[in-house]
Amino acid sequence: MYVFKAAVIGAGTMGAEIAQVISWSGLPVVLKDIDRTLLDRGMAQARSIYQRRVDRGKMTPDEAEAKLALITPTLSYDELKDADFVIEAVPEKMELKKAVFAELDEACQSTAILASNTSALSISEMAAATRRPDRVVGVHFFFPASVMKLVEVIAGAKTSEETMDTAVEFVESLRKIPVRVKECPGFLVNRVLLAAMRQALVFHEETGETPQAIDAAIKEGGGVPMGPFTLADTLGLDIVLEVCRTLQAAYGPRFSATPSLERLVAEGKLGAKRGQGFYQYSG
Ligand SMILES: NC(=O)c1ccc[n+]([C@@H]2O[C@H](COP(=O)([O-])OP(=O)(O)OC[C@H]3O[C@@H](n4cnc5c(N)ncnc54)[C@H](O)[C@@H]3O)[C@@H](O)[C@H]2O)c1
Repeated sequence: MYVFKAAVIGAGTMGAEIAQVISWSGLPVVLKDIDRTLLDRGMAQARSIYQRRVDRGKMTPDEAEAKLALITPTLSYDELKDADFVIEAVPEKMELKKAVFAELDEACQSTAILASNTSALSISEMAAATRRPDRVVGVHFFFPASVMKLVEVIAGAKTSEETMDTAVEFVESLRKIPVRVKECPGFLVNRVLLAAMRQALVFHEETGETPQAIDAAIKEGGGVPMGPFTLADTLGLDIVLEVCRTLQAAYGPRFSATPSLERLVAEGKLGAKRGQGFYQYSG
């Protein structure tokens, strides 16, 4: 199936980046949110990604404007009527996602594929909120989506082979690398990532070693671009906590949230996006 027009639901951390990625490939994309301020912030985020490319001499200001013009910000479902591929990127709450999928099922043409960017939730459960479970699929980008190449493509219990093939081809058309994974809580990458990240948090709590010291040691010794505390702050500690809870429910206490993570989220210190998490941020 050829995708002529795409849409992204939720203009937050991931949605804005995914819309930028789609526009970069030359495809028109609708970016929908329920909050005007957050929608504007999402568009500003997409603009800043293009601006960085202009600053580095990788594209001209006119080229950047032409790409940006492919993104249509909206608060209404009207623009989605003729979309072929819709990616949901609203907060990681199953009840919210099911409500959004039911709305999308009503608002979109019957041929449209409805995808979720969920980090760990069941695609089959979201699909059950629609009358087209064969056309519901997981398409999981990683942060920052404008940079990260890997995308997990996840089949729910009723996802058709044709939908999987379209999703894989769509991801490739965005110049990303799709990997087909089986449906299970956390899929592939987050199961591995969360297990490693949680060990760093436990080490911090048990030994009193600082996030700075642990991040520096892992960066140096592990050959990774950032340590686990910087990564957790960048992802958003509320997101990390939700994923921990989902994985704990599925696999038991080896994925339980640690006290420091629980405390920071309860205090509203959600990481870089709120100016404070394991680290303090200015500006
Ligand atoms: N943050 C990450 O690093 C990351 C990485 C991979 C996947 N994800 C997944 O992506 C999804 C989104 O995460 P995020 O970090 O971008 O969240 P976010 O909180 O930054 O953004 C969510 C956006 O959705 C909007 N929204 C809420 N309800 C809506 C509705 N009914 N209709 C339309 N928009 C609505 C909010 O206004 C907000 O702008 C989650 O499922 C998360 O697990 C996040």
